[in-house]
Amino acid sequence: MENKGFINRSDIHTTILSNEAVADAHYLLRCECAEIAQHARPGQFIHVMVSQGTGMLLRRPFTIYTVDGREITMLYQIIGEGTRRLSEMLKGEPLHVLGPLGNTFDLTMPPDPAILVGGGAGIASLMLLATALRENGIQTIGLVGAQRQARLLSVADLEAIGITVHIATDDGSIGHHGYVTDILIDMLKKTDWHRPTIYGCGPHGMLSAVTKIAADYAVPAQIAMENRMGCAMGVCLGCVCPVRTDVDTIEYQRVCTEGPVFNAADIAWDVS
Ligand SMILES: Cc1cc2nc3c(=O)[nH]c(=O)nc-3n(C[C@H](O)[C@H](O)[C@H](O)COP(=O)(O)OP(=O)(O)OC[C@H]3O[C@@H](n4cnc5c(N)ncnc54)[C@H](O)[C@@H]3O)c2cc1C
Ligand code: FES
Repeated sequence: MENKGFINRSDIHTTILSNEAVADAHYLLRCECAEIAQHARPGQFIHVMVSQGTGMLLRRPFTIYTVDGREITMLYQIIGEGTRRLSEMLKGEPLHVLGPLGNTFDLTMPPDPAILVGGGAGIASLMLLATALRENGIQTIGLVGAQRQARLLSVADLEAIGITVHIATDDGSIGHHGYVTDILIDMLKKTDWHRPTIYGCGPHGMLSAVTKIAADYAVPAQIAMENRMGCAMGVCLGCVCPVRTDVDTIEYQRVCTEGPVFNAADIAWDVS
């Protein structure tokens, strides 16, 4: 991916406008960040200070979920201490944010159709992309996976912009009982599309499965990686992932600066 968006490395001090539960253990946070809203592109993320007090020095990265005028939102899952503290922050509290950071999904070759594959909170990384695709009149299909119905995210948001959504849950509480990748395989088997392209984000295992499926059906795939991060500035190397730059050459690239979006086929899933 060469498609670098605008990068802002100065800390923005803003205020939380709302921070509400939207599903089991998932929250939507809204704040005014005109600089980020103006420049944000699909796939880019912000680095958020989750606590003004002591203890949590490292910021946490979250994809920009939506942009509306001067406002942005982020959709996040409570995973550990940082996201738990974030979920307890209230309307009116200050928030320190860096961004937009990272590269963007590459839309230079318009897909026909675009197939979005999101697992869990991974769908959050595909919403701005979904919006851009629909603004460009591109047929877009959403495959959304969750552990169970209570954790299902973004279906209404995707449908509201004209995307047909297919759901899979691990426990079968809604939609297909199984993995979202089962639906992907089924679709690729049955359909003779012009230039399908897959865009994925989710757990490591799901992304590695998407990469294999894309290769099996000779469909290009771009994925957003969500490695743990330290600085998000390209300095600490805490976020690297192995990328095959040649048949025999593995290069460790920084998810925060070379990514988070990569060609799925370039990731060396067999190397840790
Ligand atoms: C570019 C980027 C964009 C992201 N966008 C979103 C988003 O839009 N919404 C969202 O919900 N999450 C997103 N994430 C993931 C999010 O940053 C982490 O869930 C969050 O940092 C966890 O912080 P914590 O303090 O709650 O958990 P911690 O206390 O730091 O970790 C708790 C446990 O989870 C594990 N863990 C933490 N982070 C990760 C990770 N990234 N991958 C695998 N295991 C992890 C830790 O090893 C530990 O076992 C994104 C990550 C990246 C890199
Ligand atoms: S998080 Fe420090 S180099 Fe990527």
